[in-house]
Amino acid sequence: MKKSFVRIISIILVLCMTLPIMASASVAGEVSRVSVTINGDSATSRGFCWYTDETAGTDVQVAVAGADLTKAEIVSGVSHKAMDKYVHKAVVDTLKPNTKYQYRVGDSKTGVWSDVGYFTTPSKSKDDANFIVYADVQASNEENFQAAAKVLQVAVDTMPNYEFAIGLGDFVNDCTNEEWDSYFRNFSFMNMNTTIVPVAGNHEGNLQWFKFNNMFNIGAVEDSATITGCYYSFDWGDAHFAVLNTNDMYPMSASQINWLKNDMNASDAQWKIVLMHRALYSAGKNINKPDTVIMRNLLLPVIDELGIDVVFAGHDHMYMRTEPVKGEKVQTAQTVTEIWNGESTTFAVNPDGTTHILPSTAGTKRYGVNEEAMPPILESSAIARDTKDGGVFATVSLDSNHFVYKAYMVNDETGEKTLIDTYAIKKTDREPANDDYVDLPTDIGSTAGQHGITFVVEILKMLVSYIKLLFSVI
Ligand SMILES: [Fe+2]
Repeated sequence: MKKSFVRIISIILVLCMTLPIMASASVAGEVSRVSVTINGDSATSRGFCWYTDETAGTDVQVAVAGADLTKAEIVSGVSHKAMDKYVHKAVVDTLKPNTKYQYRVGDSKTGVWSDVGYFTTPSKSKDDANFIVYADVQASNEENFQAAAKVLQVAVDTMPNYEFAIGLGDFVNDCTNEEWDSYFRNFSFMNMNTTIVPVAGNHEGNLQWFKFNNMFNIGAVEDSATITGCYYSFDWGDAHFAVLNTNDMYPMSASQINWLKNDMNASDAQWKIVLMHRALYSAGKNINKPDTVIMRNLLLPVIDELGIDVVFAGHDHMYMRTEPVKGEKVQTAQTVTEIWNGESTTFAVNPDGTTHILPSTAGTKRYGVNEEAMPPILESSAIARDTKDGGVFATVSLDSNHFVYKAYMVNDETGEKTLIDTYAIKKTDREPANDDYVDLPTDIGSTAGQHGITFVVEILKMLVSYIKLLFSVI
C-alpha cells in the first residue's frame, strides 16, 4: 500500500514537471506560415498572417530595426479555424515611410512568438523601386518546393537590395496542408523578410475555394467578392501596381473591371503595372482555352485604354515577352543606349503600347511553346521559349524615367544562373491623373446587369475568335 502510494505520488510529480514543458513544446512549434503583405498604404501599413495548430492569441509586435522588439506595442488581430488549424490575421497601420522594421507574431499571453522577421516601407518622396518577380511554384512535394526555393535564393543573391517580391499565383498544386506547410517552410527566408505581393492563382482560388485569403492578409477592395482570391493595388516609388484576380471570371466581373479603370485613372504614377495570374499574351498550352480567350477579348481593350506599361502574368509555365503591343499590333519604338546604374543599357524610348511578360515558372513543372497559339500571340513576341533546364526569376529596377527588367534561369543541375532576357524602357513624358474621370460603380449589385450583358457579348466574341483560329490553321 505504501509502495503504491509512493508510486502514484511519483507519477503525479513527474507529470506535473513534464506536462508544461510538453504543452509549451507543442505550442511553440505551431507558429507557422508567416507572411507580411501589402494591406492598405504600402508606406504606412502591413498585413500579417500566420497559423497555429491549436487556438492561440493573435498578437504582433513591430519595431524599427535595431530597437528592443520585446518592448514594442502589442497589436492584436483576429483568428478563425481553417484547414483544421487556426489562421491569424493582424494589421499594423501606424508605420513610418522609408523605414526598415523588425517584427514577430504570436501570443503575448503564453509568450510563444515566431522568429523575428523584417520588412521595409517605401519613401513617399523617392521615385525608385527594386523588386523580384516569380511565377507558379505549383509544387506538390518537398523536393520540388526546395528546388523552387533555391531559384528564389539565387534571386535574393542577385538583387540583395530588393524591397518586395511578387508571386504571380499558383503557389501550390493541390492546396493541401502538407503543400502549404512545405511552401511556407521553404520560402520563409523570403516571406518573413520582405513584403510579399501575392497574386491569386487558380490552384489556390478556383479549384480549392477560400484558400488564397486564408493564407495572406491583404486588404481586399471594398465591395469586392473574395471567395476566389482578391484584387488590390498599391504604390511603390513612382509606380502604381494593380493586382487582378483572374479567378473572378466568366468573363471577369464588371466590378473588377470598373475598379481597375477607377484605380488606374486616379493614379498619377509614371509607371502603371498590372499583375495577374492568367496571361493575356502567352504561348503556353492554356492560351487557346475559352476562359483565357474570353478574358483576352474583354481585358485587352481596357489595358490599351488605361495606358498600362507592363503586364506580368503566370499560369502557362513557359517564358514569353512581347514587343510593346496596342490594339493587338506591335508598336515599334526608338531605342537609346545609356549608362544607367553603372551598366550600359538599351532602352525603348516612350513605347506606345504594353509589354506583356510571362516569366515562366520558378518551379519544376514546365511547358513548351505552343506553336498553335491564337494569332497574333506568336507574331507579337520578342522572345518565346521553354525553360526546361531550370526555374526562372526576374528582377526590376525603376525610377521615374527608367524601367529595367532582367530574367534569369537557374540551372537544375549546377545551380548556375543565366541571363535569358533583358528589356528596358525610358520614359521622358508623364501623363497626369485623369481629373475629369467619373468613377464607375464597383459594387456587385450595381454591376450585375453590366456583367450579364458582358457575359453574353464575350461568349459571342469568343466564338468569333475560335472561327478565326479555325481559318488560320486550315
Ligand atoms: Fe495556373
